[in-house]
Amino acid sequence: MNDDEDGYFGEHVAATYDDDSGHEFQPEVVAATADFLAGLAGEGRALELAVGTGRIALPLAGRGVPVHGIDMSRAMVRRLRAKPGSDAIGVTIGDFATTRVDGTFSVVYLVFNTIMNLTTQEAQVQCFRNAAAHLEPGGCFVVETVLPDLRKLPGGQDVVPFHVSPTRWAFDHYEVATQAMSSNYIEVADGRGAYRSIPFRYVWPAELDLMAQLAGLRLRERWDGWTREPFTNDSGGHVSVWEKPVD
Ligand SMILES: C[S@@+](CC[C@H](N)C(=O)[O-])C[C@H]1O[C@@H](n2cnc3c(N)ncnc32)[C@H](O)[C@@H]1O
Repeated sequence: MNDDEDGYFGEHVAATYDDDSGHEFQPEVVAATADFLAGLAGEGRALELAVGTGRIALPLAGRGVPVHGIDMSRAMVRRLRAKPGSDAIGVTIGDFATTRVDGTFSVVYLVFNTIMNLTTQEAQVQCFRNAAAHLEPGGCFVVETVLPDLRKLPGGQDVVPFHVSPTRWAFDHYEVATQAMSSNYIEVADGRGAYRSIPFRYVWPAELDLMAQLAGLRLRERWDGWTREPFTNDSGGHVSVWEKPVD
């Protein structure tokens, strides 16, 4: 349970979010993401669901695309507002599964696994319907997310560790009966551990396609990543693009 009105991305997380040196923060990955989205946006506008600190919205706006964002975390959006160029980006505070903003968009996008932050199937379906409602005919909804690491679970196990060091342990916990999962972190300082857990709902590409169908969208492209590598049996995640039919 999280009582912070900013959800799981309150002040504590927002303060260091952009210090991450992981894959998603590498300049070439950010540039490939913005290029991909700018290509889909064409002359139109882009709507980012869960805009956060503007990791992608800012470089996309820098490519000449008008961008609007939705996010529930005021703390994350304050970081966006502190960055040069952010005055070009409109932001609405709210739940991206249901919040409506004015106008239509040629691309709506939801990146960095954030579809999984919606922890029920109902909320994920609402998100697809909300994205579709913002799209102009011919427009696209783009989702980037990982696949659950279930192949790393031998029978009887429900935990996959993904970081172990003297000062930090991290593991994912899976409930395959419900598709509930959580990422769990223990930070050790002065011999004492502080525990943090973030809940998710993992979702397969086929289920996302069905959600898209419920929202009146159809699959146009699915790739392993932003530079359009093929999506295969060995892919650990995907970038999927659904389009709103013209008629
Ligand atoms: C991993 S960050 C991604 C931020 C940004 N899209 C990026 O790629 O760097 C997840 C973001 O989703 C937001 N978020 C999570 N659930 C949300 C919800 N239901 N409604 C609105 N924002 C939400 C968080 O506040 C946070 O800013």
